[in-house]
Amino acid sequence: MEFVLWACRLMHVFSVVVWFGGLIFVNAVMLPVSQYEGRSRSEASVAILHRFNSFVWSSLWTALFTGLLLMLLSPRFLWFDYSTLWQKLLAVKQTAFLLAGFFSWQIAKVVSHMERTQNEPDAYESWRLTYVKLIRRSLFCGILGFLCAAGMAVV
Ligand code: HEM
Repeated sequence: MEFVLWACRLMHVFSVVVWFGGLIFVNAVMLPVSQYEGRSRSEASVAILHRFNSFVWSSLWTALFTGLLLMLLSPRFLWFDYSTLWQKLLAVKQTAFLLAGFFSWQIAKVVSHMERTQNEPDAYESWRLTYVKLIRRSLFCGILGFLCAAGMAVV
């Protein structure tokens, strides 16, 4: 059982690092560079955003599955009981996860709009700005999730 717990914990941490680490790369490196180079509407830029979506979803499902397992295997988890700080932090983290999941669903839709408007600079630019807004909201949820995890580890 110890092995299952550690395998879950490592896969859980790995999946949220790939998810939110990837969002940071897209937001802080890929988009600003392609914008600066005047290539934000290029085939390559849009193809990268499209391909990254599949990484987000595989990480999201892995984080959810391993998180549920960690939760069910934890002696501190009781159904519908939020009396302890650990349970309250878990609830906040799950809410942050659901919100980040919702933003990821919206991001997938926005990327398909960006693919359709690649030859319409104004329309593309407004979808690109929506994309950046959704990434930043997801990152806020991710940071909140990490802070809750840190709190859960010390309480
Ligand atoms: C925003 C999304 C999430 C982030 C950033 C995140 C991050 C983390 C991290 C870094 C850890 C390891 C901390 C440690 O080693 O104790 C962890 C542990 C854990 N996570 Fe998540 N997680 C997220 C979503 C979830 C979800 C959705 C669930 C449940 C459905 C969950 C349940 C757990 C549990 C039960 C643990 C073990 C806590 C303990 O043993 O004290 N996590 N999480």
